[in-house]
Amino acid sequence: MADHLFTAAKLGHLVLHNRSIRSAAFEGMCPGHRVSDDLIQYHRSVAAGGVAMTTVAYAAVSKSGLSFDHQLWLRKEAVPGLRLLTEAIHKEGSFAVIQIGHCGLIAKKSVSGGVCLAPTGGFNLYGPTLSRTATRDEIWEIVCDFGVATRLAKESGFDAVEVHAGHGYFISQFISSYINKRKDEYGGSFENRARFLREVIREVILSAGSALTVVVKMNLRDGFTGGTEVGEASGIARMYSGKMVCSQHEEKLPGKWRKKLRTSI
Ligand SMILES: Cc1cc2nc3c(=O)[nH]c(=O)nc-3n(C[C@H](O)[C@H](O)[C@H](O)COP(=O)(O)O)c2cc1C
Repeated sequence: MADHLFTAAKLGHLVLHNRSIRSAAFEGMCPGHRVSDDLIQYHRSVAAGGVAMTTVAYAAVSKSGLSFDHQLWLRKEAVPGLRLLTEAIHKEGSFAVIQIGHCGLIAKKSVSGGVCLAPTGGFNLYGPTLSRTATRDEIWEIVCDFGVATRLAKESGFDAVEVHAGHGYFISQFISSYINKRKDEYGGSFENRARFLREVIREVILSAGSALTVVVKMNLRDGFTGGTEVGEASGIARMYSGKMVCSQHEEKLPGKWRKKLRTSI
């Protein structure tokens, strides 16, 4: 078993020199939502320790998706710092992956700049605040933001992007029938609750092209009675293996957002 850990493994287009990946864990080292020297030194040391790949923790794809101070926000202004970060990781012989996400109703109002978005608005289950229901247009905008973030990750020299679809963040809020009470095509059936995830993965895969490996992180249970359980979560894992997602043409971003995606970087 221990020997196996030190054998090579293929992940998308990457060949990892062993099977250890430092998973995303919030570093709190991004004042002004940008890369700091501390963040670079931190990941440099993780890479020097011998992991095959290190994950730069949660980077919000838009301001409304920020959940903490000192958290990364993957926008144009962050790219120069991120380039230094990926160069440092590569110099130590490891691959670099960045986790991208939106936190929906877990957003911290003082940093995200407004009432947080939820699949279904109302009293916030995660804190003493109110949230509001995301409109279809806002959902599409966030899907578009995932695409933009992926392109920026590519420009920053990352080898992979990890879509955060777990831990009660926005995508998992949609999947959870406990949290998502929508009556439109994003709520109700399992198929509908997984639509936002499908749309995000599709945009991320299209934006990644052949340059980036795409990873998705999700939870098996969300901890709510009547919420996501192992059966549905493993169903999603089976349904959304790369080939399936690419063959799903029915969900396309409307023209307005496609234009933003093309012109934003
Ligand atoms: C301090 C801390 C911060 C974390 N931040 C993130 C994060 O930003 N994104 C994420 O997907 N998981 C995050 N996690 C979860 C870890 O990546 C990991 O999934 C979790 O710790 C379970 O793995 P373990 O059993 O090896 O600890 C965090 C965990 C800790 C302890």
